[in-house]
Amino acid sequence: MPDVPRLRAALLHWYDQDARDLPWRTGPAARGVGARPDPYRVWLSEVMLQQTTVSHAAPYFLAFTRRWSTVGALAAVEEGELMAAWAGLGYYARARNLLRCARAVAGEHGGAFPDTEAGLAALPGVGPYTAAAVAAIAFDRPANVVDGNVERVMARLFAVETPLPAAKPELKRLAGTLVRDERPGDWAQALMDLGATICTPRNPACDRCPVRAFCAGVSSGAPQRFPRRTRKAPRPERRGIAYVLTRGGEVALVRRPGEGLLGGMLGLPTSEWTDVAASPPPRPAPGAWREAGEVAHVFTHFSLALRVLTSEGGDAQALAEDAIWTPAAQAAQALPTVFRKVLKAALASA
Ligand code: ADE
Repeated sequence: MPDVPRLRAALLHWYDQDARDLPWRTGPAARGVGARPDPYRVWLSEVMLQQTTVSHAAPYFLAFTRRWSTVGALAAVEEGELMAAWAGLGYYARARNLLRCARAVAGEHGGAFPDTEAGLAALPGVGPYTAAAVAAIAFDRPANVVDGNVERVMARLFAVETPLPAAKPELKRLAGTLVRDERPGDWAQALMDLGATICTPRNPACDRCPVRAFCAGVSSGAPQRFPRRTRKAPRPERRGIAYVLTRGGEVALVRRPGEGLLGGMLGLPTSEWTDVAASPPPRPAPGAWREAGEVAHVFTHFSLALRVLTSEGGDAQALAEDAIWTPAAQAAQALPTVFRKVLKAALASA
């Protein structure tokens, strides 16, 4: 076991000097003079950061907080409008959970987030990670905040040989041994910053690491060997056809079914997406189509290749019976990334 008080002092000192300046963050200097984070902003940022990187999330965070400056304002938004604003962030069920949670806070808690981990975890759509992160960062509760970055830091610091994902409980327990009542919010964020800027997945910058003296991975001579991983099965490949029907400057969108992948989002009409290994390629719907290339997109559980077919004007409109005709520029804004790529391919080939 490392000397925990010295390890903590070293990391917190580094955080005091080098904390990243992030739009949702109340940094150590501001906290030092009594500034408190806004729980709404902390919660919103944590939900966004579960699906994507800091640089991708930041513009969304700024747009959301400009448009909806309180949880009450967010709770009042209509679901379709929220889904459109979320487009491009991915994992669309989270956007719906976001709204459920906002409505519970506004409706049942008078607009104030519960200030304990258990209270936060009881909100609809708030998982254990988000509850811990908001409890620590917004309310300075000594919660154990463990995401993938913190898992990597722990795997190295303690040279954990158990491979992921089996190592998760062990990594969480080890992270818990470092949490104390002092500065829990700064501690959680210091670990996140360390994972993002120094203890990076490839080529960790150990020469600049504030806790290298405590790191069993460094002592082992090969810290980048951690975390060990069980070899993953390759991602299945699926393919399909996406249709871009245009009429003047408008494009035919469809509302996707509420459940399942991209549930409730706007999309483009497509064929079924079939398994490349198991099924022949889907056949195009009747109509006069122009080929506009192919688009690739990687989802968590499979990769997808979409053949893009376009049609301008009246033909093939049977496909578009339920179409929501939308100006192309506006459509691009409201679509999930996979369909933005399709639309871009279609417009580029026009
Ligand atoms: N990743 C997840 N939460 C974060 C936060 N609050 N700051 C920086 N990176 C993060």
